[in-house]
Amino acid sequence: MGGSDEHIESMMHERRHFPPPRHGSERAHIPGPEAYDDLRDQAARDPEGFWAERAKALLDWDSEWDTVLEADWETPEFKWFAGGKLNACANCLDRHVASGRGEKTALIWQGEPEDDVRQFTYAELRDEVVKFAKVLKKWGVGKGDRVAVYLPMIPELPIAMLACARIGAVHSVVFAGFSAHSLQNRIQDCEAKVLITADAVIRAGKQIPLKTNGDEALEACPSVEHCIVVNRAGLDVAMHEGRDVWWHDAVAGDDGTDCPPESMDAEDLLFILYTSGSTGKPKGVVHTTGGYLTYTAQTTQWVFDIQEDDVYWCTADIGWITGHSYILYGPLALGATTVMFEGVPSYPQPDRFWQVVEKFKVTIFYTAPTVIRALMREGPQWTETRDLSSLRLLGSVGEPINPEAWMWYHDHVGKGELPVLDTWWQTETGGIMISAVPYATTLKPGSASQPLPGIEADIVDRDGEPVGPNRGGHLVVKTPWPGMLRNVYGDPARYKSTYFERFPGMYESGDSARMDEEGYFWIMGRLDDVINVSGHRLGTAEIESALVAHEAVAEAAVVGMPHEVKGQAIYAYVTLKSTFQENDELRKVLRQHVRTEIGAIATPEIIQFAPGLPKTRSGKIMRRILRKIAADETNAFGDTSTLADPTVIADLIDGKNLLG
Ligand code: PRX
Repeated sequence: MGGSDEHIESMMHERRHFPPPRHGSERAHIPGPEAYDDLRDQAARDPEGFWAERAKALLDWDSEWDTVLEADWETPEFKWFAGGKLNACANCLDRHVASGRGEKTALIWQGEPEDDVRQFTYAELRDEVVKFAKVLKKWGVGKGDRVAVYLPMIPELPIAMLACARIGAVHSVVFAGFSAHSLQNRIQDCEAKVLITADAVIRAGKQIPLKTNGDEALEACPSVEHCIVVNRAGLDVAMHEGRDVWWHDAVAGDDGTDCPPESMDAEDLLFILYTSGSTGKPKGVVHTTGGYLTYTAQTTQWVFDIQEDDVYWCTADIGWITGHSYILYGPLALGATTVMFEGVPSYPQPDRFWQVVEKFKVTIFYTAPTVIRALMREGPQWTETRDLSSLRLLGSVGEPINPEAWMWYHDHVGKGELPVLDTWWQTETGGIMISAVPYATTLKPGSASQPLPGIEADIVDRDGEPVGPNRGGHLVVKTPWPGMLRNVYGDPARYKSTYFERFPGMYESGDSARMDEEGYFWIMGRLDDVINVSGHRLGTAEIESALVAHEAVAEAAVVGMPHEVKGQAIYAYVTLKSTFQENDELRKVLRQHVRTEIGAIATPEIIQFAPGLPKTRSGKIMRRILRKIAADETNAFGDTSTLADPTVIADLIDGKNLLG
């Protein structure tokens, strides 16, 4: 494991406070501190009664549950609303059509090319989903089958996900920036029956082929019977006879019949989403239907205070959990208008996000600190030439937002008025866990504020004892919540060992944090060997395996290094086999190799050739030392007495200095 408790120390002392705005509070879901305290007390007094009432108020159920919660921390096994029946797609679409919102805009899609815009009302989106649900059925997909979705940010992505949900199939979305190899691993792990992909991704004005990755992945995926291909860029791609079909051909000639939503048990799987852990291959995080949808709908309402006339935009990619929960399921369950954007913040120029805000009069905007830091660098002028007056709330997610970035966001995007809601959560938690509530919480830049009502989070030491105010420790959750992951797909032992073993009766997040005297949480970062690059989790073990898979590499150790825009970047120490020469050409080859093996986000920022790595006498690499060298903190290495060969440190520092 990376950090032991002695390294958990927070250096941050931020004193600025921002009370909640008054304007807008009259109609807010949580209009002020009293209403908030009431909710928190209710939830604490009777958690099951509280969540049962929420589940009923937020969703339409085909039939009610037998039990609200069955929790066994030992096995572990958690069930929310077991025996209850519902369909996630019907809750996101049909019921809104039935209740008179059919003509309301559900989805606004802005493609990267300015003129590529598609808008769907709730009725239109439902029709598209029904059409595609029938295609899936026709191709043999049924309840419980897994469907891999490897698509760019185009409307077919949410349509495919909702179509799966409609027929009770389990979607497994793989971010389109991942490589063929990563896609292959994920398909093999969940044994998907169908792959949905596209000819290409359009990004920053370029076309990046995607179907070729799909083909390469499918060379070793016997479970996949069919591949459905969206024509995004008009590329001429090879179609495999009998296996591949174009999306537009598959839906052509639709007979207009309905495809009634499958009534699912609350605990039936809704989706699998892979995420990196500290060891081994990525974990298939399992989310189920009733709890996940209750939780995402509830948190969307509390944190973003969505009202009937809001235009809400979350800039994440749907390939990550943020997009699943806060572009798709949360907002649509509430009947909101959600914006989906195919492009990037800086293309064709650094005002693109603000241009989209202006164009659609976006009212609620949710992005990542890395975006804010990148735009900060470009200067505030880009926020000044666009009309941002429609905005009323700003959100942040993915990594700690440093107070300077918070202030810039607040001052330049929020014109010194709008609340910035820093939301802490994880793929595993399904939805936001720690966050301010816009009209009830006084904000402190850099703090995610407090756990939401119904969430009991704490900071504990290595023995699981609460550390008390202003001491760093392990961030844990002490009571079950409806959005929590239910398993690691196909690997319950890993589910237990990763999240529930170290601190009995608690969920271990893997993050460190400190709580101040007012109960505000200050998240410090990962305690395990996970690197957070631009808000994306990457396991060091995965990158190391990719490097070692190259013929020139004998050994590799990867750590995170501080990076101004990305938060963290990847620093790789590589020991070559004796027959290979250290040179810049090989460095380039290795960077490209990792890119091909995992994806562009995993490309090492720096590769340092190292004849030796700092190891203990038992052969364990001391990453703490490597992290310090990467961060140029070479004055205090702590205890190095267990090193087998202490001279490697000096060699590594010399090597680093040569890199410049
Ligand atoms: O370290 C925390 C960081 O991102 C991790 C979760 O990554 P992932 O599962 O990919 O989900 C990202 C989007 C929810 C956490 O363990 N993290 C996420 N949000 C914050 C954060 N760190 C600090 N502050 C946040 N607001």
